[in-house]
Amino acid sequence: MNDLMDFVQQVKRANDIVDVIGSYLELRRSGTNFFARCPFHGEKTGSFSVNRNMQIFKCFGCGESGDVVKFVQMYESVSFMEALEILAKRANIPMPQTARQAQDEQYTKRKQKKDIYMDICRNTANFYYKAYRSEFGTRARKYMEGRGFDADTIKKFAIGYSPDDTSLVAYLHKLGFVDEDIIKAGVAYQNRQGQVVDSLRGRLIIPILNMQGKVIAFGGRALDERTAQFGKYKNTSETPLFKKNDNLFALNIAKEQKQQAALPNIVVVEGYMDVLSMYQAGFKRAVASMGTSLTENQAKWISRLTDTVYICYDGDAAGQQATVRGMDLLDQAGLDVKVMSVPENLDPDEYIKKYGAEAFEGLIAKALPLPDYKLHLLDNAFDIHSSNSAKRNEALAKYVKGSIKMLKALDDIRQNQYITVVSAKTGYSEDYLRRKLLEEATDTTESTQEVAVDTLSPHTVAKYFVASCILHGEDYARISQKPICDTLFLDKLYTYIFDCYNSNQQPALDMLYTVCPDASDKDYAQIVDVDFNKKRYEKNRAYFTECLRLIKAESLQAQRTKLLAEVKKDPSNMELMQQLAEITSQINNLR
Ligand code: CTP
Ligand code: MN
Repeated sequence: MNDLMDFVQQVKRANDIVDVIGSYLELRRSGTNFFARCPFHGEKTGSFSVNRNMQIFKCFGCGESGDVVKFVQMYESVSFMEALEILAKRANIPMPQTARQAQDEQYTKRKQKKDIYMDICRNTANFYYKAYRSEFGTRARKYMEGRGFDADTIKKFAIGYSPDDTSLVAYLHKLGFVDEDIIKAGVAYQNRQGQVVDSLRGRLIIPILNMQGKVIAFGGRALDERTAQFGKYKNTSETPLFKKNDNLFALNIAKEQKQQAALPNIVVVEGYMDVLSMYQAGFKRAVASMGTSLTENQAKWISRLTDTVYICYDGDAAGQQATVRGMDLLDQAGLDVKVMSVPENLDPDEYIKKYGAEAFEGLIAKALPLPDYKLHLLDNAFDIHSSNSAKRNEALAKYVKGSIKMLKALDDIRQNQYITVVSAKTGYSEDYLRRKLLEEATDTTESTQEVAVDTLSPHTVAKYFVASCILHGEDYARISQKPICDTLFLDKLYTYIFDCYNSNQQPALDMLYTVCPDASDKDYAQIVDVDFNKKRYEKNRAYFTECLRLIKAESLQAQRTKLLAEVKKDPSNMELMQQLAEITSQINNLR
């Protein structure tokens, strides 16, 4: 083993996976395993399990699995080395020189650069914040006042102001930052005259924070018509810190809320000001997609915080193809998706200002579940109530075709429910709809590769059991010969066991994931979920002996088959005959 592996081992041993994951998620204990709602695919049931003996997590819903390092890597969205660093810090283990050297130089450079950009963004936010409160910020303050925002909200979102072209850059220079980094961080750009100038000059500033609460970008709203010609809003361009479609505005606030009490839902709106208004009205769980359609990553972030999401888009955006696709992504992330509609083509900010928080609460209550919303869109698209029967029939056919697409995406229970709805609505029989659905389903051939555990041969079961006893460190468990390994998993497992034997080490369960990182749930379960409590101890010991016998018998049988073939080819070979007799008697003795 090299130094890095040693260090990984040391860090892993010092960071019990149950403790670590328990600090991120609420774990419930059940038998030897701990369960939680999976943070990686979003769900209502707790398919996410953590096993202390084996030191792995596994989600039986989405299939994600791994050890404690992988968990931190995924949960914090960091690299392997960064995760290792977090865990080492947690256990007060210094990063050894060797491990540091193992980080490739590129990576170190990138990370240092990112730290610099973060620093620039933080200082820029400070500068804007102060400017807003200075004599230069009068116009911005008036503007926010005019829109009815109070001091709390303005402070919470750290609203700022960019007074002019050059002051920010001069300020950053004074702090020691260089143009190249200032530009890369996205807060300034070089104009045609070669001057480095503030990207959002003259605008009201809305800082955008990541989930860790660090400023990574800015949104800037024009305060006058002249500036608005270049866009009512301007955002920091894509930078190493900020990818517009990987971030949601105010997600950090939703996360903060979740840390205080479980979040019943998140409301996705389009604009910054919608989020601010909702916050002020007491809805502190709004996030903004910043005017773009939702992505898979954004769905993943949301599903880490809650299980229900409301979409509240402006009238013209709702119903568009890209919007519906975004909703599907949320649904696929395991979220319960509900779609709100705001009357009079108002956005949430305008609606709340006009009708108040309570009325907005009413809109939330009236939100449509995603399937209903899709039917509602079909309703709008096709005139299925037309008085012209030809037109009506054509519309009905189109409606049904659209609804089949919608039904296809549903789980069995909801599918049955909505088949009834569509049938009642269109007059097409439920049978017809089911048949159509089946036709569609056979197009996407699903592979059923996984072998059910209960169809495994007794020999294979024996091999799993023996390996399990060995890895659990049972004192009676030892094997003298590598069995026939019918699967790659078993082969890796027994190779590991014999490698340990050869180097006088005890095979350990917590290495299972490292040794066999890509095994199936069922493979893992066969090794981990073996009961080793006292009552079963004697039974296990007896069964272990029985399993060894089976394994031995299989191996002898295989040798015998091979010998038989040779004897057939060379019947006069006495030596072969003798060997055959020997093996046959050994097999008989085992019975
Ligand atoms: N947006 C943008 N660039 C634009 C226009 C909009 O990035 N030129 C993004 C902003 O994040 C904005 C969101 O899209 O908040 C929604 O835009 P819009 O509905 O036009 O603005 P409002 O949020 O209603 O802004 P306001 O109430 O300040 O007019
Ligand atoms: Mn608005």
